[in-house]
Amino acid sequence: TAGPLIDSFGRVARDLRVSLTDRCNLRCTYCMPAEGLDWMPSEDMLSVSELQRLIRVAVTMLGVREIRFTGGEPLLYARITELVAYTASLAPRPDISLTTNALGLARKAASLKAAGLDRVNVSLDTVNSRNFHTLTRRDRLSDVLAGLSAAAEAGLTPVKVNAVLQPGINDKDAADLLQFCLDNGYELRFIEQMPLDAGHGWTRDGCITAEQILHSLSERFTLSPHAERRGSAPAERFLVDGGPATVGIIASVTRPFCGDCDRTRLTADGQIRSCLFSHGETDLRALLRGAAGVPDGAEGDEILAQAWREAMWRKLPGHAINDPGFLQPSRSMSAIGG
Ligand code: GTP
Ligand code: 5AD
Ligand code: SF4
Repeated sequence: TAGPLIDSFGRVARDLRVSLTDRCNLRCTYCMPAEGLDWMPSEDMLSVSELQRLIRVAVTMLGVREIRFTGGEPLLYARITELVAYTASLAPRPDISLTTNALGLARKAASLKAAGLDRVNVSLDTVNSRNFHTLTRRDRLSDVLAGLSAAAEAGLTPVKVNAVLQPGINDKDAADLLQFCLDNGYELRFIEQMPLDAGHGWTRDGCITAEQILHSLSERFTLSPHAERRGSAPAERFLVDGGPATVGIIASVTRPFCGDCDRTRLTADGQIRSCLFSHGETDLRALLRGAAGVPDGAEGDEILAQAWREAMWRKLPGHAINDPGFLQPSRSMSAIGG
Protein backbone atom coordinates (compact mmCIF):
# COMPACT_ATOMS: atom_id res chain seq x y z
CA THR A 1 0.00 0.00 0.00
CA ALA A 2 1.07 3.56 -0.64
CA GLY A 3 0.02 6.73 1.07
CA PRO A 4 1.15 9.54 3.30
CA LEU A 5 1.41 9.79 7.09
CA ILE A 6 -2.17 10.58 7.96
CA ASP A 7 -3.67 10.41 11.45
CA SER A 8 -7.17 9.54 12.55
CA PHE A 9 -8.00 13.26 12.87
CA GLY A 10 -7.06 13.94 9.24
CA ARG A 11 -3.72 15.67 9.80
CA VAL A 12 -0.93 14.78 7.37
CA ALA A 13 2.71 14.75 8.51
CA ARG A 14 4.96 16.35 5.89
CA ASP A 15 7.67 17.53 8.28
CA LEU A 16 10.14 14.97 9.66
CA ARG A 17 12.40 15.93 12.57
CA VAL A 18 15.42 13.66 12.90
CA SER A 19 17.29 13.73 16.21
CA LEU A 20 20.91 12.76 15.51
CA THR A 21 22.16 12.57 19.09
CA ASP A 22 20.89 13.18 22.63
CA ARG A 23 24.21 14.77 23.64
CA CYS A 24 24.76 18.47 24.00
CA ASN A 25 27.68 20.77 24.71
CA LEU A 26 25.55 23.25 26.66
CA ARG A 27 23.61 22.57 29.86
CA CYS A 28 20.61 24.91 29.68
CA THR A 29 18.94 24.99 33.07
CA TYR A 30 15.48 24.44 31.59
CA CYS A 31 16.67 21.37 29.73
CA MET A 32 19.21 19.23 31.59
CA PRO A 33 21.22 19.06 34.84
CA ALA A 34 24.79 20.38 35.13
CA GLU A 35 26.25 16.87 35.04
CA GLY A 36 24.41 15.98 31.83
CA LEU A 37 22.29 12.86 31.39
CA ASP A 38 22.91 9.16 30.82
CA TRP A 39 23.60 9.41 27.11
CA MET A 40 22.33 6.79 24.71
CA PRO A 41 24.71 3.88 24.22
CA SER A 42 26.16 4.02 20.72
CA GLU A 43 24.92 0.54 19.79
CA ASP A 44 21.37 1.81 20.33
CA MET A 45 21.86 4.68 17.90
CA LEU A 46 21.02 4.36 14.23
CA SER A 47 23.96 4.05 11.87
CA VAL A 48 24.33 6.48 8.98
CA SER A 49 22.99 3.90 6.55
CA GLU A 50 19.99 3.18 8.79
CA LEU A 51 19.27 6.91 9.00
CA GLN A 52 19.60 7.25 5.25
CA ARG A 53 17.21 4.40 4.67
CA LEU A 54 14.54 5.88 6.94
CA ILE A 55 14.92 9.35 5.45
CA ARG A 56 14.58 7.85 1.96
CA VAL A 57 11.47 5.90 2.98
CA ALA A 58 9.95 9.07 4.46
CA VAL A 59 10.63 11.20 1.39
CA THR A 60 10.00 8.73 -1.43
CA MET A 61 7.21 6.62 0.09
CA LEU A 62 5.52 8.69 2.79
CA GLY A 63 5.26 12.16 1.29
CA VAL A 64 7.60 13.94 3.71
CA ARG A 65 8.65 17.30 2.21
CA GLU A 66 10.79 18.80 4.93
CA ILE A 67 13.64 17.27 6.91
CA ARG A 68 14.92 19.02 10.03
CA PHE A 69 18.01 17.72 11.78
CA THR A 70 17.99 18.26 15.50
CA GLY A 71 19.39 16.79 18.72
CA GLY A 72 20.57 17.20 21.48
CA GLU A 73 23.07 19.18 19.50
CA PRO A 74 23.16 17.83 15.93
CA LEU A 75 26.54 19.40 15.11
CA LEU A 76 28.06 16.90 17.60
CA TYR A 77 27.10 14.21 15.11
CA ALA A 78 30.29 13.82 13.11
CA ARG A 79 28.70 12.69 9.84
CA ILE A 80 26.00 15.34 9.60
CA THR A 81 27.34 16.86 6.36
CA GLU A 82 27.18 13.49 4.67
CA LEU A 83 23.58 13.01 5.81
CA VAL A 84 22.61 16.44 4.52
CA ALA A 85 24.16 15.64 1.16
CA TYR A 86 22.31 12.33 0.99
CA THR A 87 19.01 14.00 1.88
CA ALA A 88 19.56 16.66 -0.79
CA SER A 89 20.08 13.93 -3.40
CA LEU A 90 16.58 12.48 -2.93
CA ALA A 91 13.75 13.15 -5.35
CA PRO A 92 11.66 15.12 -4.73
CA ARG A 93 14.34 17.07 -2.91
CA PRO A 94 13.05 17.98 0.54
CA ASP A 95 13.57 21.30 2.28
CA ILE A 96 16.50 20.72 4.69
CA SER A 97 16.95 22.63 7.92
CA LEU A 98 18.88 22.37 11.16
CA THR A 99 18.08 23.30 14.76
CA THR A 100 21.35 23.98 16.57
CA ASN A 101 22.92 25.92 19.43
CA ALA A 102 25.46 27.13 16.84
CA LEU A 103 28.58 26.03 18.76
CA GLY A 104 30.99 25.03 16.03
CA LEU A 105 28.70 26.36 13.30
CA ALA A 106 31.24 29.02 12.34
CA ARG A 107 33.53 26.23 11.09
CA LYS A 108 30.81 24.14 9.44
CA ALA A 109 28.34 26.60 7.91
CA ALA A 110 29.90 26.79 4.46
CA SER A 111 30.33 23.03 4.03
CA LEU A 112 26.79 22.36 5.28
CA LYS A 113 25.47 24.87 2.77
CA ALA A 114 27.49 23.26 0.01
CA ALA A 115 26.09 19.85 0.99
CA GLY A 116 22.54 21.16 0.56
CA LEU A 117 21.45 22.55 3.92
CA ASP A 118 18.87 25.28 3.26
CA ARG A 119 18.58 27.09 6.57
CA VAL A 120 19.19 27.02 10.32
CA ASN A 121 17.27 27.77 13.50
CA VAL A 122 19.65 28.79 16.25
CA SER A 123 18.79 28.48 19.93
CA LEU A 124 19.88 31.66 21.72
CA ASP A 125 18.12 32.84 24.85
CA THR A 126 19.99 36.06 25.67
CA VAL A 127 22.73 38.32 24.30
CA ASN A 128 23.86 39.21 27.83
CA SER A 129 27.00 37.12 28.28
CA ARG A 130 26.67 36.75 32.05
CA ASN A 131 23.09 35.62 31.76
CA PHE A 132 24.06 33.33 28.87
CA HIS A 133 26.64 31.72 31.14
CA THR A 134 24.14 31.33 34.00
CA LEU A 135 21.48 29.85 31.74
CA THR A 136 23.64 27.49 29.66
CA ARG A 137 26.28 26.89 32.38
CA ARG A 138 28.94 27.57 29.75
CA ASP A 139 30.71 30.81 28.85
CA ARG A 140 30.26 30.48 25.10
CA LEU A 141 28.15 33.42 23.90
CA SER A 142 30.82 34.68 21.52
CA ASP A 143 31.03 31.26 19.79
CA VAL A 144 27.27 31.25 19.28
CA LEU A 145 27.35 34.76 17.82
CA ALA A 146 30.17 33.74 15.48
CA GLY A 147 28.10 30.72 14.40
CA LEU A 148 25.12 32.91 13.70
CA SER A 149 26.98 35.33 11.50
CA ALA A 150 28.69 32.49 9.65
CA ALA A 151 25.27 30.97 8.94
CA ALA A 152 23.97 34.23 7.51
CA GLU A 153 27.15 34.72 5.48
CA ALA A 154 26.89 31.19 4.08
CA GLY A 155 23.31 31.89 2.95
CA LEU A 156 21.62 29.52 5.41
CA THR A 157 18.70 31.92 5.39
CA PRO A 158 16.32 32.95 6.75
CA VAL A 159 18.30 32.51 9.96
CA LYS A 160 15.80 32.03 12.78
CA VAL A 161 16.57 32.41 16.46
CA ASN A 162 14.63 30.46 19.11
CA ALA A 163 14.53 31.76 22.66
CA VAL A 164 13.13 30.37 25.88
CA LEU A 165 12.76 32.77 28.82
CA GLN A 166 13.52 31.71 32.39
CA PRO A 167 12.23 33.79 35.29
CA GLY A 168 15.06 35.50 37.13
CA ILE A 169 17.70 34.59 34.53
CA ASN A 170 16.94 36.07 31.10
CA ASP A 171 13.34 37.28 31.31
CA LYS A 172 14.51 40.90 31.32
CA ASP A 173 16.63 40.34 28.19
CA ALA A 174 13.84 39.82 25.66
CA ALA A 175 13.81 43.32 24.16
CA ASP A 176 17.62 43.43 23.85
CA LEU A 177 17.56 40.07 22.10
CA LEU A 178 14.93 41.35 19.68
CA GLN A 179 16.98 44.48 18.95
CA PHE A 180 20.03 42.29 18.29
CA CYS A 181 18.05 40.12 15.87
CA LEU A 182 16.58 43.16 14.10
CA ASP A 183 20.07 44.63 13.70
CA ASN A 184 21.38 41.42 12.16
CA GLY A 185 18.39 40.33 10.07
CA TYR A 186 17.58 37.22 12.13
CA GLU A 187 13.96 36.17 12.67
CA LEU A 188 13.41 35.83 16.42
CA ARG A 189 10.79 33.60 18.01
CA PHE A 190 10.07 33.27 21.72
CA ILE A 191 8.97 29.84 22.91
CA GLU A 192 6.83 29.16 25.95
CA GLN A 193 8.63 26.59 28.04
CA MET A 194 6.99 23.18 27.86
CA PRO A 195 7.05 20.33 30.40
CA LEU A 196 9.83 18.42 28.63
CA ASP A 197 12.83 19.04 30.91
CA ALA A 198 14.84 16.06 32.07
CA GLY A 199 14.28 16.91 35.74
CA HIS A 200 10.47 17.06 35.42
CA GLY A 201 10.62 20.39 37.24
CA TRP A 202 8.36 22.40 34.93
CA THR A 203 5.70 24.49 36.65
CA ARG A 204 3.04 26.73 35.21
CA ASP A 205 4.44 29.64 37.26
CA GLY A 206 7.89 29.14 35.79
CA CYS A 207 6.52 29.28 32.24
CA ILE A 208 6.65 32.80 30.85
CA THR A 209 3.54 33.11 28.72
CA ALA A 210 2.97 34.60 25.28
CA GLU A 211 0.96 37.35 26.93
CA GLN A 212 3.82 38.25 29.29
CA ILE A 213 6.36 38.21 26.46
CA LEU A 214 4.21 40.46 24.25
CA HIS A 215 3.67 42.80 27.18
CA SER A 216 7.37 43.13 27.91
CA LEU A 217 8.30 43.64 24.23
CA SER A 218 5.59 46.30 23.92
CA GLU A 219 7.52 48.52 26.32
CA ARG A 220 10.10 49.06 23.58
CA PHE A 221 8.46 48.02 20.28
CA THR A 222 5.11 48.37 18.58
CA LEU A 223 3.82 44.96 17.59
CA SER A 224 0.97 44.30 15.19
CA PRO A 225 -0.45 40.98 13.96
CA HIS A 226 1.05 39.71 10.70
CA ALA A 227 -1.53 38.98 8.02
CA GLU A 228 -0.26 35.63 6.84
CA ARG A 229 -1.59 32.12 6.59
CA ARG A 230 0.10 30.44 9.52
CA GLY A 231 -0.59 26.89 8.30
CA SER A 232 1.18 24.31 10.43
CA ALA A 233 3.82 26.72 11.75
CA PRO A 234 4.10 26.83 15.55
CA ALA A 235 4.97 30.54 15.54
CA GLU A 236 2.40 33.32 15.52
CA ARG A 237 4.14 36.30 13.93
CA PHE A 238 3.95 40.02 14.66
CA LEU A 239 5.27 42.94 12.64
CA VAL A 240 7.80 44.97 14.62
CA ASP A 241 7.35 48.74 14.39
CA GLY A 242 5.28 48.38 11.22
CA GLY A 243 7.56 45.75 9.60
CA PRO A 244 8.93 44.28 7.47
CA ALA A 245 10.79 42.64 10.37
CA THR A 246 8.77 40.23 12.49
CA VAL A 247 8.94 38.52 15.85
CA GLY A 248 7.25 35.19 16.52
CA ILE A 249 5.70 33.68 19.60
CA ILE A 250 5.42 29.91 19.96
CA ALA A 251 2.68 29.59 22.55
CA SER A 252 2.57 25.81 22.89
CA VAL A 253 1.14 26.01 26.42
CA THR A 254 -1.33 28.89 26.38
CA ARG A 255 -2.42 28.75 22.72
CA PRO A 256 -1.83 25.18 21.50
CA PHE A 257 -1.62 24.60 17.75
CA CYS A 258 -1.92 20.81 17.71
CA GLY A 259 -4.92 20.87 15.37
CA ASP A 260 -2.65 21.95 12.50
CA CYS A 261 0.36 19.81 13.38
CA ASP A 262 2.23 18.29 10.40
CA ARG A 263 5.19 16.83 12.30
CA THR A 264 6.58 13.33 12.79
CA ARG A 265 9.71 12.61 14.79
CA LEU A 266 12.54 10.08 14.64
CA THR A 267 14.79 9.74 17.70
CA ALA A 268 18.50 8.96 17.51
CA ASP A 269 17.75 5.43 18.71
CA GLY A 270 15.26 4.80 15.92
CA GLN A 271 11.90 5.40 17.59
CA ILE A 272 9.02 7.17 15.88
CA ARG A 273 7.12 9.64 18.02
CA SER A 274 3.88 11.03 16.60
CA CYS A 275 4.04 13.92 19.08
CA LEU A 276 6.55 15.60 21.40
CA PHE A 277 4.24 14.43 24.19
CA SER A 278 3.61 10.84 23.06
CA HIS A 279 3.79 8.19 25.73
CA GLY A 280 4.30 5.40 23.23
CA GLU A 281 6.89 5.03 20.48
CA THR A 282 7.25 2.82 17.43
CA ASP A 283 10.51 0.92 17.25
CA LEU A 284 11.79 1.20 13.68
CA ARG A 285 15.29 0.21 14.81
CA ALA A 286 14.01 -3.25 15.74
CA LEU A 287 12.43 -3.54 12.30
CA LEU A 288 15.56 -2.25 10.54
CA ARG A 289 17.65 -4.84 12.34
CA GLY A 290 14.97 -7.56 12.10
CA ALA A 291 12.00 -8.03 9.81
CA ALA A 292 12.88 -5.19 7.42
CA GLY A 293 16.59 -5.95 7.41
CA VAL A 294 16.43 -9.44 5.98
CA PRO A 295 14.49 -8.49 2.84
CA ASP A 296 16.78 -5.47 2.52
CA GLY A 297 14.94 -4.02 -0.46
CA ALA A 298 11.51 -2.85 -1.53
CA GLU A 299 9.76 -5.40 0.65
CA GLY A 300 11.65 -4.30 3.77
CA ASP A 301 11.05 -0.64 2.91
CA GLU A 302 7.32 -1.32 2.80
CA ILE A 303 7.46 -2.91 6.28
CA LEU A 304 9.11 0.27 7.61
CA ALA A 305 6.69 2.57 5.79
CA GLN A 306 3.66 0.67 7.03
CA ALA A 307 4.88 0.70 10.67
CA TRP A 308 5.44 4.45 10.37
CA ARG A 309 1.93 4.99 8.96
CA GLU A 310 0.45 2.98 11.81
CA ALA A 311 2.45 5.00 14.36
CA MET A 312 1.10 8.27 12.98
CA TRP A 313 -2.47 7.00 12.62
CA ARG A 314 -2.57 6.70 16.44
CA LYS A 315 -1.44 10.31 17.01
CA LEU A 316 -3.51 11.96 19.74
CA PRO A 317 -5.43 15.18 19.03
CA GLY A 318 -3.21 17.33 21.24
CA HIS A 319 -0.56 17.51 23.92
CA ALA A 320 -2.99 17.69 26.88
CA ILE A 321 -0.62 19.93 28.90
CA ASN A 322 -3.65 21.84 30.14
CA ASP A 323 -5.70 18.76 31.08
CA PRO A 324 -6.00 17.74 34.75
CA GLY A 325 -4.39 14.31 34.38
CA PHE A 326 -1.44 15.47 32.24
CA LEU A 327 1.67 13.32 32.60
CA GLN A 328 5.01 14.46 31.22
CA PRO A 329 6.53 11.88 28.85
CA SER A 330 9.65 10.14 30.14
CA ARG A 331 11.79 11.12 27.15
CA SER A 332 13.01 14.70 27.51
CA MET A 333 13.39 17.41 24.85
CA SER A 334 17.12 16.72 24.46
CA ALA A 335 16.38 13.15 23.38
CA ILE A 336 13.47 14.06 21.10
CA GLY A 337 14.58 17.22 19.36
CA GLY A 338 12.84 20.57 18.99
P1 GTP B 1 10.40 26.69 10.75
O1 GTP B 1 9.62 27.95 11.11
O2 GTP B 1 9.85 25.96 9.59
O3 GTP B 1 11.84 26.99 10.61
O4 GTP B 1 10.28 25.67 11.92
P2 GTP B 1 9.58 25.70 13.29
O5 GTP B 1 8.79 26.95 13.50
O6 GTP B 1 8.88 24.41 13.44
O7 GTP B 1 10.78 25.86 14.23
P3 GTP B 1 11.64 24.93 15.12
O8 GTP B 1 11.76 23.58 14.56
O9 GTP B 1 12.85 25.70 15.40
O10 GTP B 1 10.75 24.84 16.40
C1 GTP B 1 10.76 25.89 17.30
C2 GTP B 1 10.14 25.45 18.59
O11 GTP B 1 8.77 25.24 18.41
C3 GTP B 1 10.66 24.14 19.11
O12 GTP B 1 11.85 24.30 19.82
C4 GTP B 1 9.55 23.72 20.00
O13 GTP B 1 9.68 24.37 21.24
C5 GTP B 1 8.36 24.26 19.28
N1 GTP B 1 7.76 23.21 18.48
C6 GTP B 1 8.19 22.70 17.31
N2 GTP B 1 7.40 21.72 16.90
C7 GTP B 1 6.46 21.60 17.84
C8 GTP B 1 5.37 20.75 18.00
O14 GTP B 1 5.10 19.89 17.19
N3 GTP B 1 4.63 20.92 19.12
C9 GTP B 1 4.89 21.87 20.05
N4 GTP B 1 4.10 21.97 21.08
N5 GTP B 1 5.92 22.68 19.93
C10 GTP B 1 6.69 22.54 18.85
N1 5AD C 1 10.19 23.97 26.18
C1 5AD C 1 10.30 24.72 25.07
N2 5AD C 1 11.39 24.77 24.31
C2 5AD C 1 12.43 24.06 24.71
N3 5AD C 1 13.64 23.91 24.19
C3 5AD C 1 14.33 23.03 24.95
N4 5AD C 1 13.60 22.63 25.98
C4 5AD C 1 12.41 23.25 25.85
C5 5AD C 1 11.22 23.24 26.60
N5 5AD C 1 11.09 22.50 27.70
C6 5AD C 1 14.07 24.58 22.98
C7 5AD C 1 15.52 24.93 22.97
C8 5AD C 1 15.82 24.94 21.51
C9 5AD C 1 14.83 23.99 20.91
C10 5AD C 1 15.44 22.75 20.39
O1 5AD C 1 13.90 23.70 21.91
O2 5AD C 1 15.75 26.19 23.51
O3 5AD C 1 15.62 26.21 20.95
FE1 SF4 D 1 1.89 18.33 17.29
FE2 SF4 D 1 2.06 17.17 19.56
FE3 SF4 D 1 3.26 19.38 19.01
FE4 SF4 D 1 0.73 19.31 19.38
S1 SF4 D 1 2.23 18.91 20.87
S2 SF4 D 1 1.74 20.45 17.84
S3 SF4 D 1 0.24 17.40 18.39
S4 SF4 D 1 3.67 17.41 18.11
